[in-house]
Amino acid sequence: MSFPINRMRRMRTSEATRRMVRENHLRVDDLIMPLFVCPGQGIKKEISSMPGNHQTSVDMTVEACKEIADLGIPAIILFGIPDHKDARGTEAYHDHGIIQRAISAIKENVPDLYVITDVCLCEYTDHGHCGVIVDNDVHNDETVKLLVKESLSHVRAGADMVAPSDMMDGRIVEIRTALDANSFDHIPIMAYAAKYCSAFYGPFREAAESAPQFGDRRSYQMDPANSNEAIREVALDLDEGADIVMVKPALPYLDIIYRVKSEFGVPVAAYNVSGEFAMVKAAAANGWLDEDRVRDELLLSIKRAGADLILTYFARDIARALK
Ligand code: PBG
Repeated sequence: MSFPINRMRRMRTSEATRRMVRENHLRVDDLIMPLFVCPGQGIKKEISSMPGNHQTSVDMTVEACKEIADLGIPAIILFGIPDHKDARGTEAYHDHGIIQRAISAIKENVPDLYVITDVCLCEYTDHGHCGVIVDNDVHNDETVKLLVKESLSHVRAGADMVAPSDMMDGRIVEIRTALDANSFDHIPIMAYAAKYCSAFYGPFREAAESAPQFGDRRSYQMDPANSNEAIREVALDLDEGADIVMVKPALPYLDIIYRVKSEFGVPVAAYNVSGEFAMVKAAAANGWLDEDRVRDELLLSIKRAGADLILTYFARDIARALK
């Protein structure tokens, strides 16, 4: 049956019908807020390319977490800027490292906030790569050993979930096995499963002080031209025990989110990364775009593509708008 019997505009004529037939929603429950923890006390230093986001010392991170919990955001993901960097990223798996201290302080003061940790070495190595360098490249298996230590130390400090973002082969099964062997079989793993070698991480590398000092990450992060490879990466991580699989970045890879959700039907996270955030902020600051509407439209596109969870620097803004 077609026109004039069918008129698509009927359901669009009032806010009530639009609400009733709306297929996707932004919900505070879906949001994960990334935070950057730095050494010191009383520090809250804005990240210039990410307005409204800061590097905060442990005490100020706790304050940020109280606000995040009050807004109803269920979870945060923590990134650390250590006191010292070295070739093997020692502070990443030190019991009193910056992240380990932050986790205990948050768990003590804001116990109901769910704490996820990013497991990677790039913030902790002096060369800025995500692992141990052997012959000018990141050595897979040596790196995995350190990622296992890092995961265990985060969980011992009280982390609720670990999220390895390094893109080494086989790290999920090694981390899973080590967690299980240490009575942490209840701790889930969110795998950065399809993580692309993207220019959209630029502002993050300023925030986390983690830009590689030589070369780039093409020998471990994925080629933006590939999609079947993403499906294979996801299949492997699920096989190795991942509970949630992540696609990163989000907006340039909505097709990947869609495929992962439809082919596997598992919980899918999408990382609305720093560059995606910075573009909107910059355009809005120039008066070229309506920030709130563009933000909601972009994040809805991520939901529509099939993501269940969204890691986003907009989490607080959205939570406020939804209140
Ligand atoms: C660590 C890591 C990165 C991001 C999250 N975890 C940077 C990178 O891989 O270079 C990027 C997040 C963002 O851009 O918001 N490996």
